[in-house]
Amino acid sequence: MVGVPNSTRYLTHHNTFYNSGEGSRKKGSFPIFAAMQVVVSGTRPTGVLHLGNYLGAVRNYVRMQDDAAYEGYFFIADYHSLTTHHQPHELRSLVKQTTAAYLAAGLDPEKVTIYLQSDVPQIPELYLLLNMLAYKGELEKVATFKEKIKQHKENINAGLLTYPVLMAADIIIHRAHKVPVGKDQEQHLEMTRNFAKRFNSRYDVDFFPEPVAFNYDAELVKVPGLDGGTKMSKSGSVSSVIFLDDPDDVIRKKIMRSKTDSGPTEPNTTPPQEIENIFVLMEHVSDTSAVAHYRKAYSDCSIRYGDMKKQLAEDMIAFIAPLRHRINETLANEAYLERVLQEGGEKARESAKKTIHEVRNIMGLNYF
Ligand code: TYM
Repeated sequence: MVGVPNSTRYLTHHNTFYNSGEGSRKKGSFPIFAAMQVVVSGTRPTGVLHLGNYLGAVRNYVRMQDDAAYEGYFFIADYHSLTTHHQPHELRSLVKQTTAAYLAAGLDPEKVTIYLQSDVPQIPELYLLLNMLAYKGELEKVATFKEKIKQHKENINAGLLTYPVLMAADIIIHRAHKVPVGKDQEQHLEMTRNFAKRFNSRYDVDFFPEPVAFNYDAELVKVPGLDGGTKMSKSGSVSSVIFLDDPDDVIRKKIMRSKTDSGPTEPNTTPPQEIENIFVLMEHVSDTSAVAHYRKAYSDCSIRYGDMKKQLAEDMIAFIAPLRHRINETLANEAYLERVLQEGGEKARESAKKTIHEVRNIMGLNYF
C-alpha cells in the first residue's frame, strides 16, 4: 500500500534521514526535523501592486524574512495571471514592477528566495499530479471561480477552474507551513490543505504539512477600496485603488474624491460602509490619536469629512512616497532585477526538485 520502497534514503529540505525498516514505513515516515518553518507566498503580476497587496501580504513577507523562525520563498505568480487574458508586453513590464515592489518593500535576496513561478518547472509538474486528486465539483464551488466566470463569460478556461490546484502546487512544492496572504485567499488555503491531506492519506504518508494562511495579528487583513467597496482590488476602478507608485497629487485627488455620505444626523450611530472604510484606511496609516479624534467627531456629529480626508491624504502620502521612490529606483536597475530572479530561480528549483523527487517515489513514478 505504501508507495515507498523500504530502506530508502530520503532528503527533506533541511535534513537527510533514513526510512529504515518496517517500523518507520507506516504513516509518519517523513519526520520533519527542521527548526525553521517554511513560508511561501506570491502575487499575480496583473497590475502595479496596491496598498491592499502591501498591507495584506507583502509587509508580512518582510517581517517573516527577519524572523529567525522562518525560511521564506516569495514568487511572482505569472502563470496564474494567464488565467485571464493578458498582453505579453504588459506582462513583461508588470513582472519587473512586481519584483521591484518586493525589493522596495524590503525583501532581501540574501535572506529569502525571490523567483518567478514560471522559472520552476517542478511547480507545473506537481500541479499535474495534484489535478488527479482534485474533483471538478469542489473546484466549481470555489468563490473566486464563481466570481471570475461572471466577469469573464467569454473566457471560462480550465486554468480558471484549476487555479486553486496550481496555487496548492506553488505552496506545497516547498512543503510550506505558513502562507502570508490577505483575507481573500482564505478559501484557497483551505483547498491547499485539502489537497495536502488527500495526498498524505491516499499514499499513506505524512509528507506534506498542512499550510495555514498567516498574519501577525489574529485576523487576516482586508483593505477596503475608496469606492465604498470592502476590498481594494486591481480589477476595481483605478480611482478606488491606491497604487504603490501613485504620485502624491494622484493620492490626494483619489482620497479627496472618495465616496462619503451627507454625514451623521444622530449621535453614536454606526458609520455606513464608505465612511467605515476611511476609518479603516486611517487605522493603517495614521496615528491612533488622529483616528480616535475622528471616530469621536463622528459619534458626536461634529465631523467634517473634508478635514478627515485631508488628514488621511497627507498620512497616506507619507506612507506611500518612500515606497514609490524605492520602487522607481529599483526599476531603473534592470540588471539587478534580472540577477535577483535568476539566482532566486536556481534556489527555488533546488528546493522544488527535492520535493518532486520524493513525490515521484511516493506515487510509484520511479521505475528502475
Ligand atoms: P493577488 O495577486 O490578488 O494578491 C497578492 C496578495 O495581496 C493580498 N491582497 C489583499 N490583502 C488585503 N486587502 C486587500 N484589499 C488585498 N488585495 C490583495 C492577497 O490576499 C494576496 O496575498 N492567488 C493569489 C496569488 C498566488 C498565491 C499563491 C498566494 C498564487 N499562488 C501561493 C500565496 C501562495 C492572488 O491572486 O493574489
